[in-house]
Amino acid sequence: MAVRTEIRGDAAIVYLDSPPVNAISKDIRQGLKDSFDTLTKDDNISRIILTGAGKFFAAGADAREFDGPPIEPHLPDVAALIEACPKPCIAAINGAALGGGYELALVCKYRVATPGALLGLPEVTLGVIPGAGGTQRLPRLIGVASAVSLISQGQLVKGKKALELGLIDHLADDPLEYALTMDIAPLAGKRPLCDTANPTPDDAAITAAREQASKRMRGQTAPHRAIDLVELTTTTGFDTGMVRERETFLEIRQLDQARALRHMFFAERGAKMPASLQNVNATDITKAVVVGGGNMGASIAYGMNGAGIAVTVIETDSDAVERATSNIDRLFAAALKRGLLDQDTADKRREQITIQVGYGGISDAGLAIEAVIENMDIKKIVLAELDAALPAHAVIATNTSYLDIDEMAGAVADPARVLGLHFFSPAHIMKLLEIVQADKTAPETLATAFRLAARLRKVPVLAGVCDGFIGNRIYARYREYADIIMIDGSLPWEIDEAMVDFGYAMGPYAVQDLSGLDIAYANRKRLAPTRDPNRRYVAIADRMVEEGRLGRKAGVGWYRYPGGGGAVIDPLLEDLICDEAHFAKVTRGEFTDPEIQDQLLAMMINEAFDILDEGIAASAADIDLVLVYGYGFPRWRGGLMHYAQTVGLAKILGQIKEYARLDPVIWQPSRLLRQLVQDGQSIEDYENEKAARTSGQRG
Ligand code: COA
Repeated sequence: MAVRTEIRGDAAIVYLDSPPVNAISKDIRQGLKDSFDTLTKDDNISRIILTGAGKFFAAGADAREFDGPPIEPHLPDVAALIEACPKPCIAAINGAALGGGYELALVCKYRVATPGALLGLPEVTLGVIPGAGGTQRLPRLIGVASAVSLISQGQLVKGKKALELGLIDHLADDPLEYALTMDIAPLAGKRPLCDTANPTPDDAAITAAREQASKRMRGQTAPHRAIDLVELTTTTGFDTGMVRERETFLEIRQLDQARALRHMFFAERGAKMPASLQNVNATDITKAVVVGGGNMGASIAYGMNGAGIAVTVIETDSDAVERATSNIDRLFAAALKRGLLDQDTADKRREQITIQVGYGGISDAGLAIEAVIENMDIKKIVLAELDAALPAHAVIATNTSYLDIDEMAGAVADPARVLGLHFFSPAHIMKLLEIVQADKTAPETLATAFRLAARLRKVPVLAGVCDGFIGNRIYARYREYADIIMIDGSLPWEIDEAMVDFGYAMGPYAVQDLSGLDIAYANRKRLAPTRDPNRRYVAIADRMVEEGRLGRKAGVGWYRYPGGGGAVIDPLLEDLICDEAHFAKVTRGEFTDPEIQDQLLAMMINEAFDILDEGIAASAADIDLVLVYGYGFPRWRGGLMHYAQTVGLAKILGQIKEYARLDPVIWQPSRLLRQLVQDGQSIEDYENEKAARTSGQRG
């Protein structure tokens, strides 16, 4: 039963009981309605306590129901029923009370929570607004300024802060016990929030919230609609406000943005050890080795150290040890400065990182990651050294971005223990981890990597071996085609602007400047011998690198950075591009923002379908996670594949075919995309069919 009632003396305890998080489904709503209908009439009951079974109070409305039509009883009606209950009702908040969970607490006369309980209305992060009175009751409880700030950003707060803001009335380690014993006499005269006066208007707070929403949640509808509703509380009666809230909720939960954000929410939760590895022996890593203490190696080591793993960083000589030491110390200093660590914790953690020359003393490590220069020969030497120095069971990982891990694994006697762990820079912050399964990688090796990812709180995505795996393979097409648009007519800042307008935080050229143009240059040189001579090649980026325009670190790249400051447009670059176009006999035209966006997105989508078709990615949702968590694709568009499905696969294929008429070499419509369009299937249909086939084969 999703809701159960326990009677203790004259108190009724109503438990929300729907593991794992007491998400408020139809069963909970019905259970609450039935319980309150009964308890209201029970003369033996003088107080009703609402609490959660297990670790949570309630994690909000069951988001899985949002795709279908609303199911009765509706949460606002259940909440109104609780609010109208003549007996004092107390919310004993034993754990997270989020969204609809907190809205249920709001209709109780008193709220007591544990100090660790997380509270708030995070609906906007799912593309919706609080739909059970949150926008109307919270401003009446805590005032417009705090309410609008919390609701429009979906911000969550814990115990003490929640008490300070007025979200709760009291903190107690055992809220149920407190609710059972507290004096309920003062509650008798307390008016429910639906019956309190309009809150005082606060134009400055509303304006500030709108500015924040436009900046931090650019392009998103829900925050602005939530702000409108909070503002309404100052001028309109409660009932009218509730009608408007309900209308808004029902309207926006169907919008593409809400669907996209729900998709991301569930995709993230799906990113964990695959079912096929659940029963495989995975080692919990407590000691690890990182080879190379450059920026990437240092941040991998720092991230692992933060997760309680003792790390040895291996370098080639004492100068390199010094550089690695300063890279790591810089990370500690930054964390201290930002107040993320206190000095004592930092000192203790720092002791758990050893930086040394050579491979001595690592015979008790469970895993090693090489993060040395992107060069196959050097990486093979490193892997062979690790093979000799590590215990036989230890996992050997490469952090390569592109190189062939099957070939690299040949340097190790037992390639079953080799895999790719592709971190993203800065590795201690970026959540994505591509776990690359090589040809001979053992299931135990993979399972250990997934366990490590969980320990590091990463979003792990399984990838197969190919040039660039999932993310960099798609990104390489993005960059390549952006250069073609550039030589054909647009300027880098115009392309950047178009992609920022689509929702990226930065366009492709600003990103290149940030990460440096030299790595991609080396990669293009590596691929040059195998490049199709008929494929268009734009050499502008090569020329830039050769002229020392390496990006921000050189003070000049696609933009100029005078005095190390912000980017400014460089008119010289326009000359260079026009020059190159002239040399390549290209007549430059003009592209609108939508034309730039459509072409770049179609190029990436086409590649992504090939990646799915080849089994390099296990699912479309995995591709979405990679793009959102590793490459700045707007989360509210749901990732690349979700976006493709939203636009329509037939439309995307139509665009690709149109582009292919002009350049059939670079535009080769993906086999899988063609098949889905031909069969009238969605990506979901295809994946369901594939899963059914696989389980049929197993059965
Ligand atoms: N609706 C439906 N399912 C939900 C849910 C919700 N609101 N919140 C969590 N779940 C599910 C997850 O999908 C996951 O399912 P799975 O085990 O099948 O993968 C399970 O509950 C556990 O959630 P998870 O996030 O993995 O647990 P956690 O302990 O890391 O975090 C919360 C718990 C409550 C903090 C987190 O789940 C959360 O933030 N939930 C959403 C809160 C929210 O936005 N509410 C407003 C809804 S409109």
